[in-house]
Amino acid sequence: MFFGGDYNPEQWPEEVQEADVALMREAGVTAVTVGVFAWSHLEPVEGRYEFDWLDRVLDRLHAGGVKVVLATPTASPPPWFTAAHPEALPVTADGVRLTHGSRDTYCVSAPAYRDAARNIAGELGRRYARHPALAMWHVHNEYGTDCRCDLTAEAFRGWLRERHGTLDALNEAWTTAFWSQRYTDWAQITPPRATQYLPNPAHVLDFRRFLSDEMLGAYREQRDLLRAGNPDVPITTNFVQGGWVSVDHARWAESVDVVAVDHYPDSAGIGAEEETAFAGDLARGWGGGPWLLMETAPNLIYTRGRMHAKEPGRLTRHSLGYVARGSAGAMYFQWRQPRGGAELFHSALVPHAGPDSPVFREAVRLGRTLAVLAPQLAELAPPAAEVAVTWDAPSWWALQGAGLPSAGIDYLAAVRQAHRALFRSGIMTDFVFPALGSDLSRYRMIVVPHLYLAPPEVAALLRDFVASGGHLVVGHLSGIADACARVGLGGYPAAFRDFLGVRVTEWHPVDPGVAIALDDGTTAFGWSERVETTGATVVARYAEGVLAGEPAVTRNGTAWYVSAGLDDAGWQRLLRSVAAEAGVAPVLEDPPPQLEAVRRGALLFLLNHGAAEAVVPLPEPGTDAITGNPVGRSVIVEAGGFRVIRNGQAAPV
Ligand code: GAL
Ligand code: ZN
Repeated sequence: MFFGGDYNPEQWPEEVQEADVALMREAGVTAVTVGVFAWSHLEPVEGRYEFDWLDRVLDRLHAGGVKVVLATPTASPPPWFTAAHPEALPVTADGVRLTHGSRDTYCVSAPAYRDAARNIAGELGRRYARHPALAMWHVHNEYGTDCRCDLTAEAFRGWLRERHGTLDALNEAWTTAFWSQRYTDWAQITPPRATQYLPNPAHVLDFRRFLSDEMLGAYREQRDLLRAGNPDVPITTNFVQGGWVSVDHARWAESVDVVAVDHYPDSAGIGAEEETAFAGDLARGWGGGPWLLMETAPNLIYTRGRMHAKEPGRLTRHSLGYVARGSAGAMYFQWRQPRGGAELFHSALVPHAGPDSPVFREAVRLGRTLAVLAPQLAELAPPAAEVAVTWDAPSWWALQGAGLPSAGIDYLAAVRQAHRALFRSGIMTDFVFPALGSDLSRYRMIVVPHLYLAPPEVAALLRDFVASGGHLVVGHLSGIADACARVGLGGYPAAFRDFLGVRVTEWHPVDPGVAIALDDGTTAFGWSERVETTGATVVARYAEGVLAGEPAVTRNGTAWYVSAGLDDAGWQRLLRSVAAEAGVAPVLEDPPPQLEAVRRGALLFLLNHGAAEAVVPLPEPGTDAITGNPVGRSVIVEAGGFRVIRNGQAAPV
């Protein structure tokens, strides 16, 4: 069980570091992430390494019984590096070369950067691979930079040659016949840069794929060096979750030993619990099993433009929410709040106020709770669901492009909405990745929001799922284009038309704030379509506007099509009824409002996000996993509190 956070001893004098270890012991901290941005302290001058201070930190932590997740510091090259290698500074799409002064000021395609990164990673590997405190390697931090320089252009062209083989194939894939973009020499191709009018969507999409692969290559170089030092230490890098999809995490997952995720909810209130559930389920999907919450905020949550403090109990509920969804612990950014620097007000387990503070006191209680749960969780696999939602980073990239039919298209919002409908229905949910050939056979029901890119293999996977009796709910803007963002012809969604039994002849995007009624009482926003049925039966029709009387929601056997942008209530109602038909039950029948129930094997986590005490009926008696006391057919969960109950058939004797 990992419980701790990012620890930056290089920011503090040694006496504070001594106090830190004592406080970590008090809070039951089991592991800290060290060195994430410490490059200028580890290598103050090119090729001169100073490891003594880090030796002392690791030894001190080891003596205190705290394990170390040791990071390579390559997300923030020191000033000497940029002074010596100005060509390795990133260039924006506008041609502006960025300067030093923040973090991540490097170009991942610059040979000088790659050399310097390999050097420092190799040195760390040689020195610490067998240190007794080392629990895991943490390569870099949140891969996700963007550069459009000439070095990047060179690397991009190499990647394109691999992908497309010939220029003819690339011209075909990118539809360069449009606007006279036909390339006759590889050297003519650059990264997408500032240009007069709309860019070519296939060009932009391939560049996003290239950046993801390029960063993956940089990660693997470091991983291989570290592995050579000690093959038994797991190696990872922290993936980012949120409104930013820097790399194709699902594709990266096979290259890390454990999926580690940074998640910062960007809403306060109940929205934050829904995001926590979403992040946990998606992280579990990426790794296909156990994962680790590497960073989240202990207290203040950054929401749009304003920080919100977590009220008492929320740090605990969020942390348990991640653990219930398969995380091997809960780690935070960060241990001690810094006195200065760019993120001086970002929350910490030890805040500016010091340990005599609500957040530290809650951390101490949480540490005790996790210590009691740790041995019980160790015997349990992560949760497994019977329902899944699809995820596809390239579809997100494609739907971020320009020239789309509506400015309101939002891939992440669509996926979150589908997940939220299941979450609010108390139905456990996994994520699957059709573009990567996920095995769908263990699911009874799959929801497909905005799966815009659907090459034939993806369509085949979903078609087979339906043919073998699976219940499939496809939302609009799915099955539209191939992997090169070329639209399938003959009516949307060309790739899925046969098994959906529909044919869409026109899109009718809807202006913001305009509601469209369907004849079953549902309301839709943002999107509507002219749908012809070619075998499907109509579940609901548009009740007003130019599409009045036309099909809005259809079903063809067990394949549903949702053409309209249903509101939350509409999605919830639809997905509940499909789940019931598919034989999928919620974790608890009729839970009290705002009571989140997650089952991980024999453990049932009950998180009360509401302001009132909740009386929760249980399907069977069991024991309280924290106190060991027996519980009957119902338990009380105090307002803002939690219970973990051990019951269910999976309970070991
Ligand atoms: C994370 C990052 C941390 C810190 C944190 C604060 O994304 O990895 O270094 O910046 O955000 O929000
Ligand atoms: Zn570059």
